[in-house]
Amino acid sequence: MYTKAQILDFQSITKQFIEHPHNIELEQLRKLLKFHEYQYYVAAAPLISDYEYDVLYQQLVNLEAASPHLITIDSPTQRVGNSLNNNFETIPHLVPMLSLENSYNADDLNDFDRKAREGAQLEEITYCVEPKFDGASISLVYENDMLVRACTRGDGVAGEEITQNIKQIRSIPLSIPLSEYGIHQMEIRGEVIMSKKSFEDFNEKLKAKQLSPLANPRNAAAGSLRMKDPKEVAERNLDAFIYHISFYTLQNGAITPELLKTHSGSLELLWNMGFRSLQKEKKIISNIQGVINFCNDFELERDTLPYEIDGLVIKINDFSLQEKLGMTSHHPRWAIAYKFKARQATTILENVEFQVGRTGAVTPVAKLKAVAIGGVTVSSISMHNEEYIREKDLRLGDTVIIERAGDVIPQIVQSIPALRKGTETIIEFPNACPVCDYALEKEETEAVWRCNNPLCSAQIVERMIHFVSKDAMDIKSFGDANIRKFYEMELLKNIPQIYQLDFETIGKLEGFGKKSIDNLKAAIEASKSQPLYRLIYALGIRFVGETTAKTIASHIHHILDLENLTEEQLQSFEDVGVKVAKSIYHYFHETKNIALIKELESLGLNMIQTNTTAVDGNLSGLNFLFTGTLTQLKRSEAEAMVEARGGHILSGVSSKLNYLVVGEDAGSKLEKAKKIASIKIITEGEFVELTK
Ligand code: IVH
Repeated sequence: MYTKAQILDFQSITKQFIEHPHNIELEQLRKLLKFHEYQYYVAAAPLISDYEYDVLYQQLVNLEAASPHLITIDSPTQRVGNSLNNNFETIPHLVPMLSLENSYNADDLNDFDRKAREGAQLEEITYCVEPKFDGASISLVYENDMLVRACTRGDGVAGEEITQNIKQIRSIPLSIPLSEYGIHQMEIRGEVIMSKKSFEDFNEKLKAKQLSPLANPRNAAAGSLRMKDPKEVAERNLDAFIYHISFYTLQNGAITPELLKTHSGSLELLWNMGFRSLQKEKKIISNIQGVINFCNDFELERDTLPYEIDGLVIKINDFSLQEKLGMTSHHPRWAIAYKFKARQATTILENVEFQVGRTGAVTPVAKLKAVAIGGVTVSSISMHNEEYIREKDLRLGDTVIIERAGDVIPQIVQSIPALRKGTETIIEFPNACPVCDYALEKEETEAVWRCNNPLCSAQIVERMIHFVSKDAMDIKSFGDANIRKFYEMELLKNIPQIYQLDFETIGKLEGFGKKSIDNLKAAIEASKSQPLYRLIYALGIRFVGETTAKTIASHIHHILDLENLTEEQLQSFEDVGVKVAKSIYHYFHETKNIALIKELESLGLNMIQTNTTAVDGNLSGLNFLFTGTLTQLKRSEAEAMVEARGGHILSGVSSKLNYLVVGEDAGSKLEKAKKIASIKIITEGEFVELTK
């Protein structure tokens, strides 16, 4: 879109302005900001930091405030908007938004191709194959260079006007130089999506606020479009891909069929105009067998993409052929969707169990009639909290749609009220702990009900299960089942007793031969000398995950040094924020916790941070983070290499990060890091060099 010379020019104006803020012309500043928005959101090649962008943006706000009559509707400041959406008016599309016919296998695709070849009287047809994005489709209308309207698909004939919300998606330009192409009006289509990473990040945020997570990125994107507050839409970090141009709207201008012959050409035209149209995402294939092979191969790669797709779309590339074949009342005859194997299934919500976790949080778990999705049988799904049940109006006996996408934890998408027989019943949330009968409590700011009985047996057992687990003390032969069994038999009442087990009695139990006892003894003994961070993690301090535990351990000598640190001192550690610091501080100011630690020390557990810095420690003091898929090293190996050389692993991108090591398909961490100038972004190969 921008030439090399323009890029250099914009870059030098930016630098000059940042270094010596001066009176810059309003129009020039607007162009500059538009350029940087494009580089960041469309070209994915940002040239300035967040801070520098903010300096420019603030200057634009100031200049516009001084001369409000000079504000243009495509100014970057005009995305924000302060007003709420009152209603979403229904507006007819310029061209009906048809749906696509579906295909599921090679036979369906061969049929489609045969009919198309017969209609076109051709031996072979060239196709453009694209991802079928799993999001929400939109249509955009540009007139006189400006984005004037954005609509949902609606019933295909008319959709709802959602312009203000669409303006929150920064990859959608507010204006484009249509007049340079001799075009007065243009309608284009695309899909609003939420990347997997943004979806995960957003759900993390919801969880931190104790709110119910969203079911899947598709619902997250579709739901966003009709939100009342455009600012909330902005927070969702949506993306949009443009995949279609209503060709006839172009022909009102100077673009003739001779100039633009193919669909792939139209995608290139859109790209040159400044849209994030499909570039490397599309593939031109010269016959249907090639398309079939591509579909089969691509389905296997599906989970490696940074966003969800539910299939591929196969489009005849030649516009004149498209025209010749035309459309039925539902779908074009020149395109077809190839749907991947479903990851959704319907089943019956048979029962609900309420499980008590180690922090006392009571989680409702749906017990489902077992159903296979994507090769895995699902019979149990967490329903997170009471709100989740109410929001989705889930009832016992309901038919529900469940989904399992890639390696994502299965979710209930929705119930199907139309299939209710009248026998379904409301799910009652208990008032008392299902295990110890203690009255449940809920803090105003939280969505979870908690059992605050410190003696609740479920919590005691869960804490012990966590203590011995793989990432904590890693006591191998000690599975969940043994912990439960020993607890029920009163052989194990608390964590210190793990180190004082009565092996004589255990040896008499069924299934405990000499060998298994020896293994268990050895594993317990070995755990005593685990590194300090494992013990810190194993204690189950709220908000202290493995990474935070490592950070804390690296700053202390003895675990009880933590008794003497203030919240402020804790916050100065990489990765430790206000909430985490508070939680650590409280943990180490609770007498019973200190007593537990002292008891474990007397039982011989390691309480000391042993120096992990290697002889040369060439990464000493440096903070690293890995993102995306590494190809040469396992993630855990790479992290161990950093630590062995005195470096630290951070859990997120912040200004404390020194190196972001980028593997394949890196997502939002990379985007975030690009905005912080001090972070060095390196490849896996460069990382390996660094460690030498
Ligand atoms: S072309 C007339 N291309 O799939 C052409 N659609 O099942 C209409 N979709 O309503 C659509 N990715 O929301 C097209 N690369 C792609 C697409 C795509 C996703 C959606 C779109 C459409 C639905 C049809």
